[in-house]
Amino acid sequence: MKYWAIAAFGITLAACSAGERKPVTGYAPDGKYIFNNAAKGNCISCHRVTAEKYVGPGLAGTGTLHTHAWLDKWLTDPQKTWEENDPETREMRKRLGAESRKYTAMKVIRPLEDAERAALIDYLITL
Ligand code: HEC
Repeated sequence: MKYWAIAAFGITLAACSAGERKPVTGYAPDGKYIFNNAAKGNCISCHRVTAEKYVGPGLAGTGTLHTHAWLDKWLTDPQKTWEENDPETREMRKRLGAESRKYTAMKVIRPLEDAERAALIDYLITL
């Protein structure tokens, strides 16, 4: 009985860690570095990591607003994501009062590698 309970607990833990917004491949400190570094990501030139709006929205609570998959898509190609206007993008555009605007004001300064996006996402969901 005791061993069975321990096994069940282990399975529960494994199931919980499969959640989509949990860090999987990225390393948040690397993401923070990319976010703040002018040559790597330069996200800081437009975003604050608080709720405060700057050029773009404040990014506090990103992990509750967006899925990992959407963030990956957005950081790969914001304009394409904007045009596709999937339900999550539509919700964001509505929240930002930008439902009819054709272009996003977000620019990714250089193509981000898979590992860089993963690290950025794992940083963003800590905000
Ligand atoms: C040139 C300014 C600019 C830069 C640089 C920029 N962003 Fe943005 N970002 C925006 C704007 C503006 C929006 C909101 C969409 C719009 O109004 O077009 C946005 C939206 C977002 C959102 C969604 C926010 C929400 O409220 O749903 C996330 C997440 C995000 N950016 C992350 C990043 C990351 C990470 C980087 C760096 C790789 C970055 N941004 C670089 C301007 C920028």
